[in-house]
Amino acid sequence: MNIILTRPSAAPVLHALRSIGYKAKTAIADIVDNAIDAQASKITLHFEYDKLNGYIKIEDNGNGMSEEEIQTAMNIGAKDPRTKRSPNELGRFGMGLKTASFSLGKRLSVITKKDGVYHERCWDLDYVSECNEWNLLTSIPTPVKEVAGEINGSSGTVIIIDKLDRYMRNKKIQRKTFFSKTAQIQKHLEFVFHDLIDNNKIIISINDVELTPWDPFMTEHPSIIEGEETLWKLDGHKMKVKYTILPHASKLTRTEFKKAGGERGWRDHQGLYIYRENRLLHYGDWRNLFPKDTQSQLARVRIDISNEADSDWHVDVKKSMVTIPEQAIKILRPIAKEARDISREISYFRTQSSIAGSKIKGSLNTWEQSGKDSESPFVLNKSHPIYLELLKMLNEEQARMLNFFLKLIEIGSPVNIIAVPQLEDEIQNFTDQQLEMVHRFAETMTQLGLLNTKKEIIEALMTQPGFEMFNKSTLKYILEKESKE
Ligand SMILES: Nc1ncnc2c1ncn2[C@@H]1O[C@H](COP(=O)(O)OP(=O)(O)O)[C@@H](O)[C@H]1O
Ligand SMILES: [Mg+2]
Repeated sequence: MNIILTRPSAAPVLHALRSIGYKAKTAIADIVDNAIDAQASKITLHFEYDKLNGYIKIEDNGNGMSEEEIQTAMNIGAKDPRTKRSPNELGRFGMGLKTASFSLGKRLSVITKKDGVYHERCWDLDYVSECNEWNLLTSIPTPVKEVAGEINGSSGTVIIIDKLDRYMRNKKIQRKTFFSKTAQIQKHLEFVFHDLIDNNKIIISINDVELTPWDPFMTEHPSIIEGEETLWKLDGHKMKVKYTILPHASKLTRTEFKKAGGERGWRDHQGLYIYRENRLLHYGDWRNLFPKDTQSQLARVRIDISNEADSDWHVDVKKSMVTIPEQAIKILRPIAKEARDISREISYFRTQSSIAGSKIKGSLNTWEQSGKDSESPFVLNKSHPIYLELLKMLNEEQARMLNFFLKLIEIGSPVNIIAVPQLEDEIQNFTDQQLEMVHRFAETMTQLGLLNTKKEIIEALMTQPGFEMFNKSTLKYILEKESKE
């Protein structure tokens, strides 16, 4: 065979490498992966806006690297993706460190310590472009060294990325934007590594704030429904599957509800959660098994695979894309279907026994029946997506007013009104809830300046649907009752 060795020019390859489409958060997650692979128990991230014109520092107390290891590590394509990885290892292509770093900035400095000995290397892409050669610097520039600091303990690694042209969107973004990007990265790491933070006791912090894991399955919540965990073997590789159905919105506090919505909101958090070595790779849909829909949004299915299965699942360099192998689809489809069915049932539950044969069903219904029997009162569907959207736009005071108005609609709804004969002078029975409603009605109407005297309030209440079963004496009694307390 006649061959001729050709060396690709550095500059265009570089440009291509920088553009493989990392987002800042996936880039950082990839660098954190390396620290976890190096057995780190503590990973400290620092995002700096002022010094060095801004830099990102990722420090770990892992195994560190020898001279030879750091040299290989800085190679583009340090490892053959086909080699068998050690168990739990998150790396694959030997590209992550470089491509992730270069997607953020132009200079990557690595200082590492192993068995008490320091080693360092630096890629400066300005320099690479200038000479159009892959010239790796064997010492890092002084200003970078100054911010690197010492590595405590006998081993560990510090990664510093500066000349942050990409992270800064080719200009210097404002401080506020810089740190709101940092906040998004924090949220992402809390999600992607939630299991590792929770179980392996890995501590990750960003700018001195320790990350708290975000568990998409609400494992601690008493109202979740968990499917059975099943174990499978696909081409000799293990796969674990388990679904969780999250509680209906009516079972959650507002804070819980908002938190469970995660990065992208409830609808875009349904579906398959694919974990590789306990690190989340993919979420947010049912892949090509099913479409997303509102009724399935309570269903989240956890799938665990090992790094040995990478080629079957086509894990990409950025570890953000996977393709589910045909064999796995066969197993997952019925499990996912079961989870979706349960979610749908829970979303429907409240309207199930409404008017027989009614076509209006599901969580898009504005009205729901509060109990299973046909006598139970109707309530407004407080998990209706439009209502939830609206709540986000309102401040607390406005939300209170809206909720009160909706309550009036609820109790005044023609189907909820039960005619009760009125005895004029006798004080009728009333519930605590009714008492509260009368007071809130009075308060709100006075606040709005619509009604002023007690007499006006009582007159209004007597014609108000939902209160009209009370006689004048009772209303007067109720109104005075609390003011005495
Ligand atoms: N924080 C770190 N601590 C120790 N070794 C590291 C660290 N980061 C990277 N390395 C070494 O550099 C190599 C290349 O990393 P990377 O480019 O991300 O590829 P991959 O993770 O796919 O192996 C790793 O395999 C590892 O040996
Ligand atoms: Mg890696």
